[in-house]
Amino acid sequence: MDWNDAATGWDEDEAVRTYARAAFDSLRRAARERDFALAGARVLDFGCGTGLLTEQLAVISGPVVALDPAPKMIAVLDEKTKRLSLPNVHTVAATLAEAQATKPELFAHGFDLVVCSSVCGFLEDYATTARDLVALMAPGGLFVQWDWELDPTAEEPFGLSRAAIEKSLTDAGLAEVNVEIGFEQPFEGETMKPLMGTGVRP
Ligand SMILES: C[S@@+](CC[C@H](N)C(=O)[O-])C[C@H]1O[C@@H](n2cnc3c(N)ncnc32)[C@H](O)[C@@H]1O
Repeated sequence: MDWNDAATGWDEDEAVRTYARAAFDSLRRAARERDFALAGARVLDFGCGTGLLTEQLAVISGPVVALDPAPKMIAVLDEKTKRLSLPNVHTVAATLAEAQATKPELFAHGFDLVVCSSVCGFLEDYATTARDLVALMAPGGLFVQWDWELDPTAEEPFGLSRAAIEKSLTDAGLAEVNVEIGFEQPFEGETMKPLMGTGVRP
């Protein structure tokens, strides 16, 4: 799928906005439980889209690298960083490998927090990407991802299983790996219940 096609109207989609607010609340809870300070943290928002998570995080965090290969998603975020005055957000319209090659300065310091909101399930090679992301983290850094749970009985199975998340994050080198329902958010008669995978870089 070309995510550029989803950029227009993404921020006006109430389901997407509700998900992003609930994800941020669950991130604050996970940080509290792990005694992790979001304030001042160096953040990588991997697959940031239009930055619905970035715009909430950047108000309290340190510098945020918001990366997404879809330029139209990043264009929406660029407009918001100006409008909302978020000078600590550094956007990159590129894949991780391209960004590391062209903007190495953004990766010169280890990230304290890597977030992937509804991204990992779309990756061609989730396990390798998880390893690449963990390699960019500072010791003690927190990794958090949210993804729809795979239902193998569905007509078109989509998402990630708890076991796949647990294995990928553990193999990537994270400790204290935990996978649970991130939040339960009622929306239009249904309940959003994405998985949240977390781990700490030793
Ligand atoms: C469902 S959207 C989520 C966007 C945003 N994180 C949010 O919660 O609103 C998935 C995003 O993953 C991005 N994406 C897809 N493949 C990617 C990759 N290989 N590396 C980084 N981001 C990727 C897409 O461009 C898209 O913006």
